[in-house]
Amino acid sequence: MQTRSAWLQTFGCQMNEADSEKMAGILRAEGYRLAAAPEEADVILINTCSIRAKAEQKAFSLAGRLSTLKRRRPGTLLVMTGCIAQKLGAGVLRRAPAVDAVIGTARLGELPELLERVRASGSPAVSVGTEPREAHPAVAVRSSRLKAWVTVMFGCDNFCAYCIVPHVRGRERSRAPGEVIGEVASLAAAGFREVTLLGQNVNSYGRGLAPRCGFADLLRELDARTGIGRLRFTTSHPKDFTGELIRAVRDLPSVCEAVHLPLQAGSDAVLGRMNRGYSLEDYRRIHGELTAAVPGVVVTTDVIVGFPGETAADFARTVAALEELRFDGIFSFAYSPREGTAAWGMSGAVPEREKAARLAAVQELQYGITLEKRRPLLGSVVEVLVEGASRRDPGALTGRTRGNAIVNFRADGTVSPGDLVGVSITGTGFLALEGAMTIDQDPQQGGVR
Ligand code: 5AD
Ligand code: SF4
Repeated sequence: MQTRSAWLQTFGCQMNEADSEKMAGILRAEGYRLAAAPEEADVILINTCSIRAKAEQKAFSLAGRLSTLKRRRPGTLLVMTGCIAQKLGAGVLRRAPAVDAVIGTARLGELPELLERVRASGSPAVSVGTEPREAHPAVAVRSSRLKAWVTVMFGCDNFCAYCIVPHVRGRERSRAPGEVIGEVASLAAAGFREVTLLGQNVNSYGRGLAPRCGFADLLRELDARTGIGRLRFTTSHPKDFTGELIRAVRDLPSVCEAVHLPLQAGSDAVLGRMNRGYSLEDYRRIHGELTAAVPGVVVTTDVIVGFPGETAADFARTVAALEELRFDGIFSFAYSPREGTAAWGMSGAVPEREKAARLAAVQELQYGITLEKRRPLLGSVVEVLVEGASRRDPGALTGRTRGNAIVNFRADGTVSPGDLVGVSITGTGFLALEGAMTIDQDPQQGGVR
């Protein structure tokens, strides 16, 4: 029999990226190869996101386009996974009748079985539900040979008023520390240099685990026992960001000095209605402790504009907070109402035009701040993990600093992907830094960042 092939399209967050890599691994273990285009695939998989309405529309419009392709190539199976699949279950089939299988986020391991069921019966199959079933033993197909995602916890218990995630991905569950340590150690042994630990709220890792192991404990174990060069983690929640975690970022050599700490809004009234569990003053205190303990730490954040009831004065507080805290980068979003969340029924909707204007204002403000914050890097030497040739300039290499900034730089022929090198910064921009490799610096000894 000819080998079957599969094509995957991923929307949304890193959690979905990681799940797609797992599904690619499962399909490979089943004898599939990965197709370069949907037209060549026997199985087409759309891994979806439902955090904002636009992400949902994109997934359904792709499913619509692929239904034409399915008519031309009967036998092609269309699978929907991810948050939309989890949220709508069999409801997906009403909105996208071309879909053959709907697989929830805790059921990835059932992919081969569901495909067989659809082939045998000729009718669609659905498996959703948040209680985890036995994971598939297949090894993920990682898109990079240097950097890997490792999920440390699933679900979320925070119920921020705007957010669909807890409704979709269910209650928080932490993986056993031994399992995480084993996975990171084997990645390090296989030549991976960097691991990003993933969870909706990694700071609350370990709740319910016996014996007790908090997130800072996990970082310490990973640093001491796995041999991985660089560790990152995302996403953090200010209400669970402890002094112990700050000390872990300060003290552990492998933990990168880069923290993503979503603020969401600068007004206490809005933060309260969002059910975030902290005030601006609380955030300021944690931010202050972090930046004092870890000089040069890169702090990024998420901001939502136009949450229900956000007045011009509330919005001005978000702007003032961005000016005061001077993040290295932000992800900003216009509030998108999600049915089933607490904010869905809230009064005081902000008109779309006003949301767009507020979004443009924070983005313009941040553009200037990011540029200014990068300028002092000029002339300094930073540690760069070399990833490969630069796409913009094939004569140059590209890589990332510990702060996760992209650096395009000139180097001699001795450097290869996976090396940690010292790069002297000669130019700073919004998207990337420029530089040249230093000859007399050993970044592992030199305390560069
Ligand atoms: N509308 C807009 N942005 C949202 N986010 C989550 N839910 C919504 C929503 N309904 C943003 C938050 C979160 C990031 C991942 O997405 O800022 O931190
Ligand atoms: Fe959503 Fe809040 Fe949970 Fe993040 S912490 S996933 S924003 S509910």
